[in-house]
Amino acid sequence: MMGDAEQQRATVLREQLAHHNNRYYGDDAPEISDASYDALVRELRDLEAKFPELAAEDSPTATVGSATNSSFAPVVHARPMQSLDNAFDDGDLLSWVERLVKAAPDEQLGFTCEPKVDGLAMSLTYVNGVLVRGATRGDGTTGEDVTANISTLASIPRQLLPAAGEPPAMVEIRGEIYMAQGDFAELNARQAKAGEKIFVNPRNAAAGSLRQKDASVTATRPLSFFAYQLGPSEGAHGPWVPATQREVLDQLLRAGFAVADQVVVVSSAQEVVETCQAFERGRHDLGFDVDGAVVKVNELRLHEMLGSTSRAPRWAIAKKFAPEEQHTLLIDIEVSVGRTGRVTPFAVLQPVFVGGSTVSVATLHNEDQVAAKDVRPGDLVVVRKAGDVIPEVVGPVPGQQQRTNRSAPWAFPPLCPSCRSGLVRTEGESETHCPNASCRAQMIQQICYFASRGALDIEGLGEQRVAQLIDAELVSSVADLYCLTVEQLLTLEGFGELSATSLIEGIARSREQSIHRLVIGLGISELGPAGARVVVRAFPTLEALRQATVDQLSALEGIGPAIAHSVVSYLQTPANVELVERLVQFGVGVTEQTSSDLPQNLLGKAIVVTGAVEGFTRESAEAAILERGGTSPGSVSKKTFCVVVGESPGASKLTKAESLGIPLVEAQKFSVLLESGALPD
Ligand code: IVH
Repeated sequence: MMGDAEQQRATVLREQLAHHNNRYYGDDAPEISDASYDALVRELRDLEAKFPELAAEDSPTATVGSATNSSFAPVVHARPMQSLDNAFDDGDLLSWVERLVKAAPDEQLGFTCEPKVDGLAMSLTYVNGVLVRGATRGDGTTGEDVTANISTLASIPRQLLPAAGEPPAMVEIRGEIYMAQGDFAELNARQAKAGEKIFVNPRNAAAGSLRQKDASVTATRPLSFFAYQLGPSEGAHGPWVPATQREVLDQLLRAGFAVADQVVVVSSAQEVVETCQAFERGRHDLGFDVDGAVVKVNELRLHEMLGSTSRAPRWAIAKKFAPEEQHTLLIDIEVSVGRTGRVTPFAVLQPVFVGGSTVSVATLHNEDQVAAKDVRPGDLVVVRKAGDVIPEVVGPVPGQQQRTNRSAPWAFPPLCPSCRSGLVRTEGESETHCPNASCRAQMIQQICYFASRGALDIEGLGEQRVAQLIDAELVSSVADLYCLTVEQLLTLEGFGELSATSLIEGIARSREQSIHRLVIGLGISELGPAGARVVVRAFPTLEALRQATVDQLSALEGIGPAIAHSVVSYLQTPANVELVERLVQFGVGVTEQTSSDLPQNLLGKAIVVTGAVEGFTRESAEAAILERGGTSPGSVSKKTFCVVVGESPGASKLTKAESLGIPLVEAQKFSVLLESGALPD
């Protein structure tokens, strides 16, 4: 018989799934892992199967299906959508041209220099001049069908214009979807007014807007499109068979597309370098974000001759621009207390738009860094941010040091801002610590970290909630979470029946998490997720881990003496012994490792990943390797099995791999590598 509890649980699950569906599809900003999402769907499905009277037509189980995959149909590109090799300085550009001259010694080379629009690559297919499909780049081989979404864009013609001549039977046009800076600002203003999500930068806004499940939402978003390439075609003739890249762009203009009007044709290496420099100087005057310049050989006939490597054409290169810098006011320097008690100074800045997003705080790392940079409250400082990299305070703007009213050099506060204990800096070390193990700020951070997605994955335990629990004296360690009751939570402000039940259930569910996640959640200093994986593979229970010696741990691949000492010393500290014992008593982390259900076909193989791999975050790519028995070190060595090369790879890793003869695997083949455990062809 179904009771109230089941009815209530189904309601909670449906609400949660509706919320996560919106975050995933609506906002492009999922809050939980695919696995946690799947667990919710599975639980609801099981409940509905057991109590058919619960099933409802509009239940998320009836509508989401394979929601963790894409809601867009896959499209296999007629010709892969490749990426571009990068030139980081003028020297790289010059040697690229030199290589081309060597490869085509009898040719008079010409080049186009084009802005590298910072958006999303898009492929558009026209059959007999009519738009039939829009597809994202995806992994380069297979993209997503977003026809409905892009059909509403003013800068994408539904029909190729007659001015371009008789259209080919089929033609693919490639270009970039982006959001102009002015449109981005207006969209965010609108979003703010409506209490909706604020996007961090135009690229993110373009991505979120494009991948809307409901195309009518995309229609309200100010997306634009620049065409830059003619893809495969059938039955093309006349002006649809241009001879140069410049002619391609002119033909695309005639056909009704927008083409960047900054494109310049040049004919020498020196001009290529100078044009890229001019682009860089003018990067802020374009009205849209660019992250570099693209230089292409102008003659298309030479594209054929020069060909491609497995990941990028030889006839084009992306010249990356230097990281963006801005000046702003350093309002103050404050310190924050982390979960291990480390106290870190950070800059409070007058908000400034730099490198594609607004920056208002930036870490200053430690006391020595502040002294070395000699930045002081009241200074104008240089702030730098490159791509998605963490913003950095470079130093004072030249001339600040000579200011007569400059404040005194910044001094590290003597007391912890949270518990007022005297802060400690050990001789010879750069870090400053709060020595009080029961410091409120540390406790908050420890519990939040324990509950975070990569650890025990308990939803609804943000900083504020945790502070509330600590202040009400309901918890003073992570183990106390498992004693909480719905009734206790209901006495706190902001909790209702639903949120209290859902938190308690989330906490209860976290007991089922693997020991690997528990070990991460303990927050042992020096031990990251990858190290934790190695350690629990060798010592698969907490009991075994507690017996492990420094020597045994340091013998493990990827575990150095510093990590080994830290683990042993953590597990020997009396307070931690008690904590771990309580967690075991509550049944946390006693479940067998689940992740090794996967075939261990990367066992003993060290795989380095560099650059962005489509479909993976840095962490999920690493996890995918670890789950199959491999390791994923941060640098290339003789022992490296192969290097997976994603978008914008690190030059030093590639050079090292090449010099050591380590095989490179293109990002598109990462899945093949994972599945087969062998080097893809
Ligand atoms: S040509 C074979 N031209 O940059 C690749 N790409 O890092 C041909 N991009 O995936 C690309 N502006 O999304 C080309 N004027 C331009 C571009 C451009 C932006 C993007 C494109 C590509 C990425 C490569």
